[in-house]
Amino acid sequence: MEIQYRTDGISTQNPHTNDFLESVFFHGNGYIGARGFPCEDQSQRPHQKGLYMAGVFDELKPGITDIVNTPNFLGLTVKVEDQDLHNASKSAFCQQLSFRDGVLAREYVASFGQKHIKIRLSRFFSLADVHTTVIRLEVTPLDFEGELTVLAALDATSCNLPIQDDQVKKNTETVRYVETVDSSLLEDGGLLVYKTRVTRITIAQAFCLKLSDNVQVLSRQNQVSEQGLDYMLTFRGRAQETYVIDKIITVYTSRDIHTHQIKDMVLNHLSLNGDKGYDRLLKENEAAWARRWETSDVVISGDERAQCAIRYTIFQLIANNASQDSAVSIGARGLTHARYKGCYFWDTEIFMLPFYIYTNPEAAKNLLLYRYHTLDAAREHAKKMTAAGARYPWMTSYDGSEQCESWDIGACEVHITADVVYGMDHYIRATGDTQFLLDQAAEVYLETARFWESRFTYDQRSDHYNMLFVKGPDEYCGATQNNTYTNMLAVYNLTLALETLKFLEAQHKEVHERLISKLGLKTDELLRWEDIIQKAVIPYDKEKDLYLQDETFMLLEPLDVARIKSDNIPLYHRICFDRLQRYRVIKQADLILLVALFPQKFTQAQKKAIWDFYEPITLHDSTLSYGIHALIAAQLGLKEKAWNYFCKSLYLDLDNIMENTGSEGLHLAALGASWQALFFGFAGLSLEDGMPKAAPNLPDNWSELRFTFLFQGKQWRFEAKRDENGSMTAGTVFVDQ
Ligand code: BGC
Repeated sequence: MEIQYRTDGISTQNPHTNDFLESVFFHGNGYIGARGFPCEDQSQRPHQKGLYMAGVFDELKPGITDIVNTPNFLGLTVKVEDQDLHNASKSAFCQQLSFRDGVLAREYVASFGQKHIKIRLSRFFSLADVHTTVIRLEVTPLDFEGELTVLAALDATSCNLPIQDDQVKKNTETVRYVETVDSSLLEDGGLLVYKTRVTRITIAQAFCLKLSDNVQVLSRQNQVSEQGLDYMLTFRGRAQETYVIDKIITVYTSRDIHTHQIKDMVLNHLSLNGDKGYDRLLKENEAAWARRWETSDVVISGDERAQCAIRYTIFQLIANNASQDSAVSIGARGLTHARYKGCYFWDTEIFMLPFYIYTNPEAAKNLLLYRYHTLDAAREHAKKMTAAGARYPWMTSYDGSEQCESWDIGACEVHITADVVYGMDHYIRATGDTQFLLDQAAEVYLETARFWESRFTYDQRSDHYNMLFVKGPDEYCGATQNNTYTNMLAVYNLTLALETLKFLEAQHKEVHERLISKLGLKTDELLRWEDIIQKAVIPYDKEKDLYLQDETFMLLEPLDVARIKSDNIPLYHRICFDRLQRYRVIKQADLILLVALFPQKFTQAQKKAIWDFYEPITLHDSTLSYGIHALIAAQLGLKEKAWNYFCKSLYLDLDNIMENTGSEGLHLAALGASWQALFFGFAGLSLEDGMPKAAPNLPDNWSELRFTFLFQGKQWRFEAKRDENGSMTAGTVFVDQ
């Protein structure tokens, strides 16, 4: 592979741009982030140069949104006597992404015939002030004196290449979602204001250049055109002298402040940042990252590669999360790519959320508040699907409306509604944030319980409730009946709603009354929920003490997985979706995931039986699968399996295991699942009884694993070490002093 692993970052010596490297070198601050394309690349690759902002969507077609590839403000390059830097031959090339502070740096010597110039370009999206991006260009002519022209640009040509949901059809038509509505030329930079076509989001970008004292400007020139804004300055460079050009950029959108204030805001902010300068802005950014690492870092001794990869995982989970913004969630590819049109899935609540719960609870709460803010959209969606209460759509963007265009998945993959509730309950149990329960979560529990009541079908003959026309996490199972994952989560959702009502009645009477009257809850409704809890069908083979994935699973045609799938490429590329639905193979962790979510609901024998039956027929055609398998394998003490699955998840993007990291971006749920495999699997943490307990199952080559985490408002430390004889000292957990 073209990536080198270092414990403080990743680097590459490959000077060529390619989409794989651009994906893995993604960096950002959650508010905004860029693929790792070079600042000095002036070629026309308007949809490949991805620069995405949380919550900035436009409409692709009526009712269907897309995350906007916002205009590229990163352009900064130097011409050597009119020759383009990007096309020059490069030597001593190194590009590094530092996890410590999110700085992406490129360094090389560019050759123009006999002339050589050393280049260093470093950039970061400030975590301390998310509206600020800074780029530093350092140029050192090595063996010549001559005219150098700095070119700084705001590129208005950025566009999207929308990708079909079904993952098979290819599109070649690009769409430009923004139009330029205002511009200003500044003495040392410029400003452009854009508006999205349909959602009418205003985006203002401004920059100024700061030069080192030895840059004696000979001429300056700036211009605005349909293509954007170009700013040029020329100076004479002498051999062996280093010249520093800083491009300081400020970005605001009408999601942050009122449209008519944006221009002033951007310019004032820019002027303040210009006064602060690169070094101070970098220090502030470093301090913000240091605060995040303090509660998030994981130390692995004995395995440098895994140490690097887990830090990469953590880095990307932070870099893709708008931790302060309660109006957005995290897309399946975060801000790293427009795959899935930037939409949010259950990926957030089930796969990524635990990382935030235990390292930055405020960020976790904001992710859940997004669901609360879109509760009305979930109510609308339930109505549209002729159901009651609130049903969260399968794929959503800024307004919480259904964005899924695959009819069967959108219609039957209903478990997401209970996944959202599970996420809220998990957050509340881990943080003790009762206020969130009172102000937001309780209402969600009740409205979603109503949905489940309307979604079950009562069968008079058997006196049971069935979930018909349903699809569980395993999307290869057809539209089936009584998917155990879905039914158990629905029952859990109903139970939680009833328990919460009891709790409110006993301890928070006003909230109880407010909700009863706001939602018009009736006693007979609650009795019906009780009845469903007792009588919902949970497919289970008594003889084998084995939970069945659903009621039609055993009717499917067996397939020899080992024979049919020898690589990691999803089978839907070779066997059509329709045919896959009739084979007894599983796309991704389904019952095995259920065991991870409810470890106390299954006996050890039942867990083992589920593993033995389902693991061999699981294809892992979704990247959500490996990490969860690693987690359960570690808990079951299956060392080799745990290690192999963990590596698949941990190196999924870094090693391009599915061969789609370049074309689709980073897999955020897999990042979250890797972290969970480490936390709940290798560290073996359980937090069910209000007191963290550890049962470590470390891989053989790790001599130590330690990290801190937040639980019930306190900081805890986990440590597991191997002694001189190779045996493990018990993991310890205590409150940090
Ligand atoms: C998986 C879903 C997942 C989605 C987005 C699909 O391939 O089957 O479970 O939510 O990708 O990551």
